[in-house]
Amino acid sequence: MEYSKGLAGVVAGETVVSQVQGDVGKLIYKGISIDTLASQSTFEESTYHALYGVLPTQAQLSVFRATMAANRALPVYIVEILKNLPKTMHPMGILQTLVSSLTGASTSASLSQVEQNIEQSISIIAKMGTMAAYASRHRKGLPFVEPKTDLSHAGNFLYMLSGVVPSAEMARIFDVALILHLDHDFNASTFTARVTSSTQASLNISIASAIGSLAGPLHGGANEKVLQMADEIGESSKAKQWVLDALAKKAKVNGFGHRVYKTMDPRAVILKGMLDTVVSAKPNKYYDILNIVHDTMIAELGKTSKDYIWPNVDFWSGALYNSLEIDTLDFTPIFTVSRVSGWCAHILEQWQDNRIFRPAAFYIGPDSAEYIPITAR
Ligand SMILES: CC(C)(COP(=O)(O)OP(=O)(O)OC[C@H]1O[C@@H](n2cnc3c(N)ncnc32)[C@H](O)[C@@H]1OP(=O)(O)O)[C@@H](O)C(=O)NCCC(=O)NCCS
Repeated sequence: MEYSKGLAGVVAGETVVSQVQGDVGKLIYKGISIDTLASQSTFEESTYHALYGVLPTQAQLSVFRATMAANRALPVYIVEILKNLPKTMHPMGILQTLVSSLTGASTSASLSQVEQNIEQSISIIAKMGTMAAYASRHRKGLPFVEPKTDLSHAGNFLYMLSGVVPSAEMARIFDVALILHLDHDFNASTFTARVTSSTQASLNISIASAIGSLAGPLHGGANEKVLQMADEIGESSKAKQWVLDALAKKAKVNGFGHRVYKTMDPRAVILKGMLDTVVSAKPNKYYDILNIVHDTMIAELGKTSKDYIWPNVDFWSGALYNSLEIDTLDFTPIFTVSRVSGWCAHILEQWQDNRIFRPAAFYIGPDSAEYIPITAR
């Protein structure tokens, strides 16, 4: 048996949902490149594609959009749970609590009921936007904004967050950001979703596990940390030296590095393009600082053996969301609003040919040890 720390390079399953081509910096969802989806698709269509495995016809997409919209409202008891949670609680903990609370009497799944499992997926995906927007407004002590059924998933989310219907341009930028975050093969949270669902735990319990995994700063929390870093740097004239000092201390710079990509993350390229567009109309205080961090990192790491460390999806997304006037604390919940579609697709796939995940460990403890009675210790 071979051991690989962090399961690096270990193939833990098969999937058709997405493929990360780390050497060439390409990402495909069921064969279609995210560049194509970002320029031509919508979050709803990409979600349909992930769940059903085929692109919808116009009629199928219309029905799917309407079903998503009809599922946005939260049950009253879920809203009551939210109102009783502390305003200081991190929104990822709130999302995990609310999604877990969607469980009925049973926490076990019926793997063969594929159609019902897809319906439940759509319900959870539709509600995730509402939960994330309500968690944000709860924190700020603002009244909840009822979802609108005539807006896209992206447009409605921005509306529920701010209370203002966004411009078509801003809604589309956010829609593309959701497409880009939808799936990423066996990343930590997706793997968590698959591990939990492999025990035949219910869909929402499996999603709740994945939310916990996404919450950490090495995964979904990294874009929050990128802006914290920019705040710490303070001004663009200090950015280069800050990076040099960080690298000298062997500290990790958030928004850089990836287990699979050994070149530029294709999502970062699209996000940067959208950020450039937004910033050309309205300046962003993080923009200059991040550009210098970006250029310094690439120049410095290019001089060393670590020229495989490139910006990842989290480097630019925080500044983009900041330009859309979204609070830093809502960044990881937004990741959840998108990635939940990928999690559901992976869980449905897992259940098609399920075997419980149960890896092995090398035991490195003593072969035997004396039990000393507590009175003698
Ligand atoms: C993404 C990440 C968790 C991948 O981790 P990993 O595959 O286990 O890679 P490692 O942490 O072992 O890093 C390998 C080497 O690159 C260096 N490295 C990795 N990411 C780095 C970064 N962001 N800045 C500087 N150096 C970095 C490590 O220090 C390590 O160097 P060493 O071999 O001299 O010890 C890691 O790159 C990271 O922590 N990045 C910052 C957080 C982030 O942006 N997360 C979002 C991911 S989408």
